[in-house]
Amino acid sequence: MKAANAFFFLLSATASLAVVVPDLRIRTENDTAPADPMFQLNGDTDFHYELLRVLGLAPYEGSDVGEVLVAANKIEPLSMPSWSKAFDELATRMGEAAKGIDPSKYPISARNTYFKAATYYRAADFFLHGNWSDPKINSLWAKHRSSFDAALALMPIPGKRVTLQSKGGNFRVPAIFYSSGSSEPRPTIIMCNGYDGAQEELYHVFGQAALQRNINIITYEGPGQPTVRREQDIGFIPDWEKAASPVIDYALSLKQVDPKSIALLGYSLGGYLATRVAAVDHRVAAVIAIDGIYDYGKTLTDNLTPELMELYKGGKKDEFDYILNTHFLNNQSIPTSARWALQQGLWSFKTHSLYEYYKLSEAYNLTGLTDKVEAKVFVGDAENDIYFPGQAKSLAAHLGDKATLYEFKANDGAGAHCAVGANVYLNQVILDWFDDVLKKNGK
Ligand SMILES: *[C@@H]1O[C@H](CO)[C@@H](O)[C@H](O)[C@H]1NC(C)=O
Ligand SMILES: *[C@@H]1O[C@H](CO)[C@@H](O)[C@H](O)[C@H]1NC(C)=O
Ligand SMILES: *[C@@H]1O[C@H](CO)[C@@H](O)[C@H](O)[C@H]1NC(C)=O
Ligand SMILES: *[C@@H]1O[C@H](CO)[C@@H](O)[C@H](O)[C@H]1NC(C)=O
Repeated sequence: MKAANAFFFLLSATASLAVVVPDLRIRTENDTAPADPMFQLNGDTDFHYELLRVLGLAPYEGSDVGEVLVAANKIEPLSMPSWSKAFDELATRMGEAAKGIDPSKYPISARNTYFKAATYYRAADFFLHGNWSDPKINSLWAKHRSSFDAALALMPIPGKRVTLQSKGGNFRVPAIFYSSGSSEPRPTIIMCNGYDGAQEELYHVFGQAALQRNINIITYEGPGQPTVRREQDIGFIPDWEKAASPVIDYALSLKQVDPKSIALLGYSLGGYLATRVAAVDHRVAAVIAIDGIYDYGKTLTDNLTPELMELYKGGKKDEFDYILNTHFLNNQSIPTSARWALQQGLWSFKTHSLYEYYKLSEAYNLTGLTDKVEAKVFVGDAENDIYFPGQAKSLAAHLGDKATLYEFKANDGAGAHCAVGANVYLNQVILDWFDDVLKKNGK
């Protein structure tokens, strides 16, 4: 869910265009954000962030603290293989533990354990996308899926999987409906993840918290996202309404859904996707962008030095790709966040060229669209966002009166991108806001 703007490096401004191999300078955290007041879980900023993301699911049945910290202790800075191995071991152990519990005798224990196994399989896959031929990309995902489905079936009201047809696109939209169980039509939040996250993760970030408040949930995935990318071989598309509008149709077909009380929620890059949908599909009362994004392509090009920018603007694809591949993508010494972001960009946009990926990313902006949004929009902002600095404020400014900008602070343990690690607090803020919006609408 975090994004590709993880370039803690800059090419030396003195490198001339003729020099194909410029000097590198690593940008430190100090250049972008105030020091993080939080205890760091790994010397590698990216591993700290991803560990916090896994731990953050603990309040909502997605992980447990001690076992994640044991895995964390095996992860070495800059070593993606050490991350994958640690989580593969934990996931395998948890998957076996889950199978060892008789669900007819102990349904809650089995569900808890299957949900945790699913999270850990997902984590084991997270840093593998640099090599598209790695068979674990699919094998871990299959185990993730079967663990999650075993847990779904053990919920008091089982989450229901459906497959919808895209609108004006050539793909299918996998979705899960979680009913609040109320006999009256209820408010409903339709949610999607971002650059790297699965719909299953969203149940533990927001879904269970919403169900506790008697709000229905529908999660879904579109192109570029983990299941669609794997099963249908399609990369990201900017016109996200092709994926989201069929989900709104589906919601409106359900008797449990109050048609006037639907929100769209987008996580990370989903902050762009959800807002974009609300500009063209006016059937929703609210949008929740965690966090707000106005122009995704700009977050990538902002990190280019003038030399690289000139190559990019000049359409020098081969030189641009050569430099980024040699010095960054294939360089195991650059910060994990940057290397991972490039790998994930290529995989999720389905291209082997970074130039092409940058070009594709340009279309993910809301120029000329924010005026068309009619719904109220909650724009989350993270004080220490190192991936999308400034984007939330930009989105809120373009939306004007329709936006509620809310900054999550580092001193509250919520300053990381998407407030990872602070999900209870995050839900308190956004779900209360949604309730207030509906009350003002007379609901
Ligand atoms: C970053 O900032 C901290 C505290 O402000 C300082 O101690 C540290 O030396 C700085 N690191 C670099 C690489 O400048
Ligand atoms: C990618 O994974 C495949 C399958 O495991 C392996 O054969 C290949 O050597 C890997 N490629 C790289 C560049 O590591
Ligand atoms: C790889 O990254 C390290 C650390 O930033 C840097 O010192 C080195 O020059 C890079 N290697 C190449 C080939 O660019
Ligand atoms: C914004 O996206 C549109 C396509 O939807 C594209 O034509 C335009 O160039 C993009 N704007 C910027 C500033 O990248």
